[in-house]
Amino acid sequence: MASAPVILHASLSCCIAAILTMLVMVTVTPDLSIALADQNFANQRVELISEEEKMRIGGGSSSCLLWLTDEEKKVNRFILEEKGKMIEDARTNGTSFAPAINFMTSRRDMESTNLFKVIQKMPKGGALHLHKTALTSLDWVVRNVTYRPNLFMCVGNDLFVKLHFYDTAPSDPECTWTLMSDHRNNLSASETTEFDLSLRNNLTLVSLEPDEDYPDINAVWERFEKYFGMIGDLISYRPVFKDYMREALRQFLADGVQHLEIRGSLPKLYELNGTVHPREWSLRHAYRPVFREFEENNPDFIGAKLIVTTFRGKPPAAIMSFIQEAVELYKNNSDLVVGVDLVGQEDTFHPLIDFKDALLYPSTLDPPVHLPYYFHAGETVWLETDTDFNLVDAVLLNTTRIGHGYALHNHPLLLKKVKEHGIAIEVSPISNQVLKLVEDLRNHPASSLIADNLPVVISSDDPAVWDALPLSHDFYVTFLALTGKDAGLATLKQLAINSIKYSAMDRREKAEAMRKWKRKWSQFIQTEAAKLDR
Ligand SMILES: *[C@@H]1O[C@H](CO)[C@@H](O)[C@H](O)[C@H]1NC(C)=O
Ligand SMILES: *[C@@H]1O[C@H](CO)[C@@H](O)[C@H](O)[C@H]1NC(C)=O
Ligand SMILES: *[C@@H]1O[C@H](CO)[C@@H](O)[C@H](O)[C@H]1NC(C)=O
Ligand SMILES: *[C@@H]1O[C@H](CO)[C@@H](O)[C@H](O)[C@H]1NC(C)=O
Ligand SMILES: *[C@@H]1O[C@H](CO)[C@@H](O)[C@H](O)[C@H]1NC(C)=O
Ligand SMILES: *[C@@H]1O[C@H](CO)[C@@H](O)[C@H](O)[C@H]1NC(C)=O
Ligand SMILES: [Zn+2]
Repeated sequence: MASAPVILHASLSCCIAAILTMLVMVTVTPDLSIALADQNFANQRVELISEEEKMRIGGGSSSCLLWLTDEEKKVNRFILEEKGKMIEDARTNGTSFAPAINFMTSRRDMESTNLFKVIQKMPKGGALHLHKTALTSLDWVVRNVTYRPNLFMCVGNDLFVKLHFYDTAPSDPECTWTLMSDHRNNLSASETTEFDLSLRNNLTLVSLEPDEDYPDINAVWERFEKYFGMIGDLISYRPVFKDYMREALRQFLADGVQHLEIRGSLPKLYELNGTVHPREWSLRHAYRPVFREFEENNPDFIGAKLIVTTFRGKPPAAIMSFIQEAVELYKNNSDLVVGVDLVGQEDTFHPLIDFKDALLYPSTLDPPVHLPYYFHAGETVWLETDTDFNLVDAVLLNTTRIGHGYALHNHPLLLKKVKEHGIAIEVSPISNQVLKLVEDLRNHPASSLIADNLPVVISSDDPAVWDALPLSHDFYVTFLALTGKDAGLATLKQLAINSIKYSAMDRREKAEAMRKWKRKWSQFIQTEAAKLDR
């Protein structure tokens, strides 16, 4: 830990202060001695504060990347002024502070600020914690996917729609399937608008009264899982899946995200005639060609990687097969598949320890195989429970990064290991708020990780489900609520750099990624600084 020299330093200056005070007491008049003691105290105070500021993410003056150019200083002054005004106005005048309020109701307020507009334009590097079916905006899904031919729908007993592409309506005694275009043809223009809105409401988690609609964590997760059930069938139709991914990349790049690491099971993509492709087929015929084509058409884009997942509710034997298959998959597709993870509500399904045999399996092979892990761990408020101990198991299993790590700050030894080994913590603040781990983001525990320069990266988890932009809202609340009033552009810059440094890219890819990010960063600074001159 970097704190040792600081303590030494502080105690040394205390000693000097004490000696000075003694000298002063014997040689000068009382008034002067008080003035000197005051000065001394003021110096110590300034020093202590500045030493701490140096310890945080972006505080290190050691990295020349963080020395700000004159133009950067200009942008820095502007964003610090905006941040300071909002913080002080809320603190002293009681004006509302967006990160303290559920994202579902505070989103519009955020978007109206000058600070948001700058952060939205900022090149943020990569988003390293994302789920494959929660990437693309629901506006696009409703406007584009649900207007395609051959889409059928039925309304289930739970009053949620099921959506699926078919050649002809399936015979289903439980649910009457109708062709979407037939249904829309019978609606007036205003009815169509209303219907489209109802489709959107079927999908989105957004509610204007989130506390009433989702009284606790289980209620919100139940609704959240419904989304994944609904979207899966809709986008696993082969042509839709490819367009969905392409549109995701487009929306992320437009939001200043040049690299994505996407968690998801490999989908069994289907055709209208009922053909269902094997899972691996999606790598060769969907993911790889879509990513390649997008890279070719967008020189600013760095790339996308996949972290293959399965549901943590499965029995241990199923996880064993999953890991065995993943070893092959990883070997066969090392350009694209970078490792594995388990998904599903951590508090209610199996902890990692239940899958110990499966998760140790690659290391018991002869020779041992290194299958990188990217475990969700510690997405909980329950200390020293199975979920909390997922953090221990993740670290023992040599996880490459930790998804959420919300409970990590309670584990001093794990914090030390994470820092030593550079195990990045993927912090997704809005997800934690919406999914009810924390109400007021000023209380988000990652603030202390950022203050101590732990390897933190900011991501957005499932932005489409709650109508967030790909990464801007998460960066905005991080900047306003998880970092200090004086933490400015250097902190944002280091967070972006961290997202490349701790990505799954290899050394050569990272060098190329930094080059692309830096180029975009310079353009951003030039444009913003020029605006401030006007
Ligand atoms: C608090 O409100 C007063 C009156 O509107 C305003 O003049 C002042 O600047 C506000 N304080 C801060 C810190 O914004
Ligand atoms: C949906 O988007 C794709 C890809 O941009 C486009 O080719 C297609 O025409 C769109 N379809 C509809 C119904 O808007
Ligand atoms: C889902 O859409 C259907 C069809 O428009 C509608 O009847 C139902 O109320 C919607 N359900 C939700 C939860 O919005
Ligand atoms: C089903 O459709 C796909 C894609 O159009 C086609 O490649 C395949 O040959 C078809 N299979 C059958 C059995 O018709
Ligand atoms: C990996 O590649 C080998 C050899 O081409 C093949 O036999 C195997 O089925 C592949 N496994 C997976 C999971 O893709
Ligand atoms: C984790 O890393 C340590 C040190 O390199 C190694 O001894 C151990 O076998 C690894 N464990 C797993 C499960 O890979
Ligand atoms: Zn997640």
